[in-house]
Amino acid sequence: MDRIVVLTGAGLSAESGLGTFRDAGGLWAQHRIEDVATPEGFARNPALVHEFYNARRAQAAAAQPNAAHRALARLAGRAPVTLITQNVDGLHEKAGAEAIHMHGALSRALCAACGHGWEAPATMAPEDPCPACAACATRPDVVWFGEMPYHMDLIADRLAECTVFAAVGTSGQVYPAAGFVQEAAARGAHTVELNLESTDVSGAFDAHHTGPASRIVPEWVDRLLAG
Ligand code: APR
Repeated sequence: MDRIVVLTGAGLSAESGLGTFRDAGGLWAQHRIEDVATPEGFARNPALVHEFYNARRAQAAAAQPNAAHRALARLAGRAPVTLITQNVDGLHEKAGAEAIHMHGALSRALCAACGHGWEAPATMAPEDPCPACAACATRPDVVWFGEMPYHMDLIADRLAECTVFAAVGTSGQVYPAAGFVQEAAARGAHTVELNLESTDVSGAFDAHHTGPASRIVPEWVDRLLAG
């Protein structure tokens, strides 16, 4: 039985109505990364950062998983599958699957002073005190540029033992996630890229399925489960 690792990116949730980062009109065309996705930006203007994530948290709360999320949940129920997501929208869980959240989650809050984590309220503000240490250092529990992604040891273990590695809806521009395909390929895994278009790392994959995730992911899962 194949041991499957699937890395997901913003393109998986595009058809659920959530914006991607680098497509035309994407989040990084509307906001400066250095203002809303770095520790320095948070230190400079925490209110702006909370405003950015409060809006994304509300959109994610209202969003529903699409056929691609549901297909991956179906796969995870039938085969040894590890879902690793760069997304923070929680749609894998809404579809009934568990995912390794390497970039954190909009549904979680974190205290920048003591490291305490808790379930985030719908909206957060800089003056919200940490429930553990009372410091006013509440931040979204998402990983910013310049910070170490979560669960990297577990991810390395799963990449080392997988026989199939797939990347769905990610542009392959942000490391370490963009390098996972090389790690899996080096161990002999068959690698597949599922995306609307080719990416910077398409050349690293053995196979490619091109089209909207809501169509190509269920088709890919059906073929995998048909054996
Ligand atoms: N179906 C399949 N793929 C799609 C779809 C779709 N409907 N719509 C867009 N895509 C693809 C795009 O072609 C692109 O390759 O999804 C990818 C989105 O790329 P990005 O916007 O760069 O998102 P992602 O790769 O997840 O970004 C990685 O960068 O800014 C950080 O932390 C942020 O987790 C994010 C990381």
